Amino acid sequence: MSAPVSVIAIDGPSGSGKGTIARRVADQLGWHLLDSGALYRLVGLAAYQRGVDLGDHPTLTKIAAHLDVSFGMDASGHEQIQLAGEEISGDLRTEAAGERASVVAAIPGVRAALLERQRRFAQPPGLVADGRDMGTVVFPAAPLKIYLTATAEERALRRYNQLKDKEVDGSLAALFAQVARDVAERDHRDLNRAIAPLKPAVDAVIVDSTSMSVDEVVQRVLGLWAERR
Ligand code: DC
Repeated sequence: MSAPVSVIAIDGPSGSGKGTIARRVADQLGWHLLDSGALYRLVGLAAYQRGVDLGDHPTLTKIAAHLDVSFGMDASGHEQIQLAGEEISGDLRTEAAGERASVVAAIPGVRAALLERQRRFAQPPGLVADGRDMGTVVFPAAPLKIYLTATAEERALRRYNQLKDKEVDGSLAALFAQVARDVAERDHRDLNRAIAPLKPAVDAVIVDSTSMSVDEVVQRVLGLWAERR
């Protein structure tokens, strides 16, 4: 039997910086990357495009089981995600897509349909997997599990800084208040759902990034990995 592929699982709430950190760690190690949130976002987006109600669990489960998606990069290193052959990366990263993802992610059938697909990302030489249940459900045997967090206020501020040049209809103060509400609502849903709620695995290392730079967090994760192997 071949040896299991090494996995670094990075879980945490939205805005904790998991996506950026996971990508940087994967690049440094030359490993594959699983952005599991993108899969839930894709289910929500496919449902939206087809006019499927987010309460229609059987149809959402079918969509999750038959997602026709390909992940790639363009020549300048920007992510390219195609859903049924159509480039949709921009539509996937909006606040609305995150909200829809959080709603469909609470449906047991959707989670079950995506489980094996996520596990297939574990290919040599290794995988960095980012999400909410990487260490608890999808890769429970991962040799390194990180729970990356930051205060809700800091996470809202980071999200606001990403959005303030793009999605502003009213005042910046109103945008910040809206982002803070969205963060609180998403935290509540992801932490309190019945299936695979966001929580640190018992053997996870908790990293609070509130006053850390991206580089510091990346070095901490790489340092923990160097100790483990
Ligand atoms: O990481 P993200 O913001 O792209 O994730 C979007 C939503 O998907 C998040 O609010 C909860 C859900 N999600 C999940 O339930 N389990 C995962 N492993 C990843 C994301």
